Amino acid sequence: MEKDISLQLKDRLDFNEAPSREDTNAEKYALRKKLFGSDDVLPMWVADMDIQTPSFVMDAISNRVNHPILGYEEIPDSFFESQIQWIKERHGYELQKEWMFYSPSVVASINLCIQAFTDVGDSVITQSPVYFPFYSSITNNDRHLIKNKLIENDGHYSMDFDALQEQIDDKTKLLLLCSPHNPVGRVWKKEELQRLGEICEKYDILILADEIHSDLIFKGSKHIPMASISKALEARTITCYGPGKTFNMAGLAVSTISIADEALRTKFTKVYKATHFAEGTVFGHVGFIAAYTKGATWLENLLIHLQGNIDYLDICLKEYMPSITMNKPEGTYLVWLDCRGLGLSYQGLKDFFFKEAKLGLSTGVSFGREGEGFMRINLGVPRSTVEEAVSRLHAAYVSRHF
Ligand SMILES: Cc1ncc(COP(=O)(O)O)c(C=O)c1O
Repeated sequence: MEKDISLQLKDRLDFNEAPSREDTNAEKYALRKKLFGSDDVLPMWVADMDIQTPSFVMDAISNRVNHPILGYEEIPDSFFESQIQWIKERHGYELQKEWMFYSPSVVASINLCIQAFTDVGDSVITQSPVYFPFYSSITNNDRHLIKNKLIENDGHYSMDFDALQEQIDDKTKLLLLCSPHNPVGRVWKKEELQRLGEICEKYDILILADEIHSDLIFKGSKHIPMASISKALEARTITCYGPGKTFNMAGLAVSTISIADEALRTKFTKVYKATHFAEGTVFGHVGFIAAYTKGATWLENLLIHLQGNIDYLDICLKEYMPSITMNKPEGTYLVWLDCRGLGLSYQGLKDFFFKEAKLGLSTGVSFGREGEGFMRINLGVPRSTVEEAVSRLHAAYVSRHF
């Protein structure tokens, strides 16, 4: 018991310490000038955290560094087994080792699946606004992009099943599902996924479920793996998982793909072999295993910290900046800010956030035109960063007399 308390305290302290990333190549910092026009914005855009990667991951890497040879490695059985056990415990769904493939990146996996399961000219559907590489993965592969817009009601989003059925054409082969959804923060309910699945079954469409954010779920919501809903849906679902978001280890380039159906696996294997991801990296292997075998308590503490950041921002907006509103995300550390109340154009909103508030956020439009009037802020940061962001935003807000 005592051990647990001291661990929690250590984690809380770690979450609130902000090691400088200035002298690294961190994308979030390196691209400030290019994207926001100056280096003095507080960067809260790219979806990684300004929170230390957990010590058990760093220790595993240090131990590996202590061995003086970094040659080729075989992915050990314990790699896939650690993730199988993690998903079983957290989400009540059991993957099989034979279903799984290593991938350095979920976005790479999405591209491969598009190549493996559709042909040039086929249609691929996704629900917009969504993480923008969904769009580029479709169009870069010369597939036709169908955007099935989510229904927005006071900043709350739901799926539009009627429009989906109308939009499906006879060339539609695949649906890209973001679950939980980036950027709108929804953790889809079982009934929603079930209905989506029924439509995909009816029209014989495969589902690629990007579940990279599935461990970042707040109280009151539950992540349902798409493939867990029924055996029939398991057979038409390909799932991408990874520890990159949860444990802030995107730089280790390690994730997995699970394909339960043997015929789909055979199809996928052909493209997978032709791509040759090899076996990943020596550091990726040990970091991945450490995260999934040692990470449960750390993650519980992280979720408390993130919820605190979200609550803090929510209170400050309601109290001091009521023309900017938010729905608390059910999952992910990304908050979708509804700025339509400011009455600014797309350029006006960028000027207000980037030049006046000095905040480097993602524009809503980068997730599709449906995101117009919104900005996305990343709260995977120490509390002091949220306080600084609120203070900058408030100063700009007041000086504009909104
Ligand atoms: C929904 C979603 N999928 C995939 C990724 C990126 O995954 P990877 O770095 O493994 O390509 C992100 C990162 O923001 C994301 O939000």
